[in-house]
Amino acid sequence: MASVPSSHSSPSSQPPARRPSGSAPAPLHLAPAPWSPDSWKACRLAQGIEYPDAAALDASLARLASLPPLVTSWEIERLKLLITDAQQGRRFLLQGGDCAETLEDCRSESIASKLKILLQMSMVLVQGLKLPVIRVGRFAGQYAKPRSSAMETRQVDGKEVTLPSYFGDLINRSPFDEASRRPDPGLLVSAYEHAAMTLNFIRSLIDGGFADVHHPEYWDLSFFSHASLSPQRRAEYEQMRSHLSDGLRFMEALGERAVGDLTRMEFFTSHEGLNLYWESAQTRRVPRRTGWYNLTTHLPWIGERTRAIDGAHIEYFRGIENPVGIKLGPGVRPHEVLALIDRLSPENEPGKIVLITRMGASQVVEALPPLVETINRAGRLVLWVCDPMHGNGIKTGAGIKTRSFDAILKELELCHDVHRSLGSILGGVHFELTGEDVTECVGGAAGVTEQSLTSNYASLCDPRLNYQQSLELAFLLSRKMGPGRRDADGE
Ligand code: PEP
Ligand code: CO
Repeated sequence: MASVPSSHSSPSSQPPARRPSGSAPAPLHLAPAPWSPDSWKACRLAQGIEYPDAAALDASLARLASLPPLVTSWEIERLKLLITDAQQGRRFLLQGGDCAETLEDCRSESIASKLKILLQMSMVLVQGLKLPVIRVGRFAGQYAKPRSSAMETRQVDGKEVTLPSYFGDLINRSPFDEASRRPDPGLLVSAYEHAAMTLNFIRSLIDGGFADVHHPEYWDLSFFSHASLSPQRRAEYEQMRSHLSDGLRFMEALGERAVGDLTRMEFFTSHEGLNLYWESAQTRRVPRRTGWYNLTTHLPWIGERTRAIDGAHIEYFRGIENPVGIKLGPGVRPHEVLALIDRLSPENEPGKIVLITRMGASQVVEALPPLVETINRAGRLVLWVCDPMHGNGIKTGAGIKTRSFDAILKELELCHDVHRSLGSILGGVHFELTGEDVTECVGGAAGVTEQSLTSNYASLCDPRLNYQQSLELAFLLSRKMGPGRRDADGE
């Protein structure tokens, strides 16, 4: 990732929105032309936000359109090239971060620890898979959340109160009171500023080398010694760690400059492109390139709830040059996916489409093969990525939202098996994780139990893997997918 934002970009020529979303549904927009950064406004908008103050919305969007971009077109084009490699099995994509970032959590420790765990996981994967890894954070812009219901009802002082749901810090605030839940256009600018601060810090950390990432002896691998690990598994982990250390020492022996060159990390950002006001205000043309770029992030994705072929999100996304992720749950039909790909990448552009499947461990074996067969047989160029988080949500007896480490691992393994059996390639993984010691997902060698979930449950949205669980998954994934290890299942 280059370290300086583009100074060449010009603001969108489109005037900012006049009409709040959620107003009278517009006619379906089936014909794929003409496109502009605002043409989505003529389409049906899922997860639309009703901004009560249209003038304040306009002012925020005008401000956003005037600010410098967060990322540059050449970084975006570079990522497309890397994804093209991954589509051919020559790289592997690791995408991860919070379910939802909050403005409050824009702190140095939390950003550094998230970046650190992602980089450490990537090094385990490089070592285990023998492939370069593309590192993509779910951060510096992951501030908007789709909700299953637009309104939320709670009992307050014995009375039933209904307010808008919390849609993430880009849109409103989480406390359950009227003022907090009112969509606030000021947050569009504020979130943008926080994304810029986050990205600025990440760029500096990466440029500075982030030393302890390159020294596995500084990593917290205490889960190795946990009693629940079998001696065989422990020996395997130790062997992987020792290979990793040897590899890094070898690079060090090549001299300082070589280490700098070899270990320089490229890093990219991603978020769900949910709030189209925000996305389109930063969608620009850049000099000497054709097309429009979403300059809030390198890899925006379309969520499971907003991928209707005739909806506003697909209309917006079809016009941008960025690579695009599409989340696919177990209910999706192969012909729908083909139609989405053809709408978003009519020229079947390499490096453009990332299909992020999130089927759930219990459904992946049934739901995934028809998609893989149809898309691959049709010759569409896609990168297949497994999100083992969003199909594996459960609630404990006490009503706490959690996910089980075993189910997450199972979906990853089955997804890999499905692709392999069909001659396809699982080219990446997508996690919700944090670098901190939270207790939100159950399981893993370090042993978060249902009873201990409340000891440090910090997520406002979905439960995330903690530091140790994330690192352990990287080891297990390497063990499953690395060359020569493919059938080393079960103990
Ligand atoms: C998410 O990634 O946080 C999310 C909401 O995913 P999905 O759209 O797959 O449900
Ligand atoms: Co989530």
